[in-house]
Amino acid sequence: MRIPDRGCSIEEVMAMLEAAGARDLPWREGRTFAYVYEGGCDVEEVAKRAYMRFLTENALDPTVYPSLLKFETEIVAMAIAHLRGDDQCVGNFTSGGTESCLLAVKAARDYARRERGIAEPHMVLPVTAHAAFQKAAHYFDMEMTLVPVDPETYRVRAEDMAAAIRPETILLVASACQYAHGVVDPIPEIGALAEARGLLLHVDGCIGGFILPYFRRLGAPVTDFDFAVPGVTSISMDFHKYAYAPKGASVILYRSRELRRHQIFTGATWTGYSVINPTIQSTKSGGPLAATWALLHYLGDEGYLRFAARTLEATRAIAEAIRANPHVRLLGTPEASLLAFAADDFPVFPIVDIMRKKGWFVQPQLGYMGSKANIHLSIDQSTIDLLGAFLPDLEAAIEEARRSNLRLSDDMRAMLASFTPETFTRETYRALMEMAGTSGGLPEGTAPINLMLDAMRPEVAGIVMTEYFNDLYVPPASAPRAGAGG
Ligand SMILES: Cc1ncc(COP(=O)(O)O)c(C=O)c1O
Repeated sequence: MRIPDRGCSIEEVMAMLEAAGARDLPWREGRTFAYVYEGGCDVEEVAKRAYMRFLTENALDPTVYPSLLKFETEIVAMAIAHLRGDDQCVGNFTSGGTESCLLAVKAARDYARRERGIAEPHMVLPVTAHAAFQKAAHYFDMEMTLVPVDPETYRVRAEDMAAAIRPETILLVASACQYAHGVVDPIPEIGALAEARGLLLHVDGCIGGFILPYFRRLGAPVTDFDFAVPGVTSISMDFHKYAYAPKGASVILYRSRELRRHQIFTGATWTGYSVINPTIQSTKSGGPLAATWALLHYLGDEGYLRFAARTLEATRAIAEAIRANPHVRLLGTPEASLLAFAADDFPVFPIVDIMRKKGWFVQPQLGYMGSKANIHLSIDQSTIDLLGAFLPDLEAAIEEARRSNLRLSDDMRAMLASFTPETFTRETYRALMEMAGTSGGLPEGTAPINLMLDAMRPEVAGIVMTEYFNDLYVPPASAPRAGAGG
C-alpha cells in the first residue's frame, strides 16, 4: 500500500473514515464497560470545539504558546485542590495514566541516584498496581518487588509492603483505586510506613483519583488516599477517564518541587534548540490541554458531582445484582466505579463473547497471584440509563456461560501449563492460534484464546501476546498470517 497518487475530496475522505469506524464498539450508547467514558453530546461538543481550536498549538514551548502554559498550570492547580494538596504541590499535564506513572518512577529513580546515592534503586508495589509500573521498571531499568494482596479484600497489607523493603528501596506504590477490582489500598497505613522508613510513596489515582472525592462527598465510604495523607509524595490522576476529557489527558502531581525536579529532562548537549521537557513527550498538541480546561469550566464541580451521583447509583445497582447472583462472586469491596466478578464452577470468559453478541463490551481479566480469571466492568454515568437492559442481559449471559461446554480438557490444561519460554516455539504458537480460531487478524470470539492464556505461565502468555501483536501490526498487503506459513 502506498500514498494514493491523487488526493480525494473531504467528503470521500470522511466516508472512508466512517466506513473504517463501522466495526468499532458502539461506545456512544453507553454499552462499553471499559475504555470509554461518555459525558453526552454537549460534553463531546465542548471538548471537540476546544480541542480543534488548539489542535495545532504546540506545548513544547510555553514561551511561544502562553495559552497552553495557562491551561496546564490551571488544570494542575485544580487537580491539586481536588486532591487536598497545598501550595507546595506542583505537577504537569501528561498524555495519559501510563505517562504519569512512568514519570513518577523516573523522578523517584533519579532522586534516589542524585540525592540518596542509591545506584540501583528498587520499588515495592502490590501485584494489583497497574502494569504501567512494571513497564516503568522495564523502561527505566529499576528493580521491583511485587507484593501479593489479601485474597479476600484484594487490598495490599502494609506489613507485606514493609517486608519487601530493601536497603535500595526508594519508592512504594499503592492505588486509589486499582483497576482490576476497583479496590483502594490502605493508603494511610502505607503512608505511615513510607514516612517511618524515609521512602517516597506514589498513589496511582489514574482511574479513581478524580471520582473518589465526589463519591466521598456523596456519602460513600472512601479510604483516604490523597495529599491529606501524610507520606504520600506523588499522585497520578487522569482527566481522560472520569473527568470525560478526550484521550491524552492526565496529570502527575508532586508534594514538592524538590521531587518534581528529577522528572525534568533538559538537552543542551546537542546542536539544536534547547530542549526542556518536563514530561516524556516533546512536541505535544494543545488539543487535550484545551479540551480538559474547557470541560472543567463547562461542567464545573456541580456538573461532575451530578455525574458522580449517577455513576455511584449505577455501580451500586450492578454490584448488588452480582452479589445476588449465586453463580458468580464479586471480588473484594469496590470503592470506586469499577468492579470485577469471578465464578468458581465454570469459566467466565464466554460471558465476554455472549455479551458482545448482545451489543455490550465487558472485559476479560486473566488470573494471577491470587486473583482468579474474572470479568471487569468500568461503570460510567451513562450506564444508569441502560441498567434495565444491561442487568437482564448480564444474568442471561452468566446462565449461558454456565451451560457452555467451552472448557479446556485436563490434558490440554496440563500441556498449556507445561510450556516454558524455552520450549514455546513459533510453531506451537501458530498451532494454538489456529486451535483458538485466531489464525490472523482480529478474532471473532475471545473466550478460547483467553482460556488458553489463563492456563499458561504468565511469561509464556506474554510471548503469545507479543507474537500476536507483532503479526497484527503489519502493512495490510504483506501481513503474514499466523498458521499460514508467513
Ligand atoms: C489505576 C490505573 N493506572 C494507570 C492506568 C493507565 O492509564 P492509561 O491507559 O491512560 O495509560 C490505568 C488505566 O486504566 C489505571 O486504571
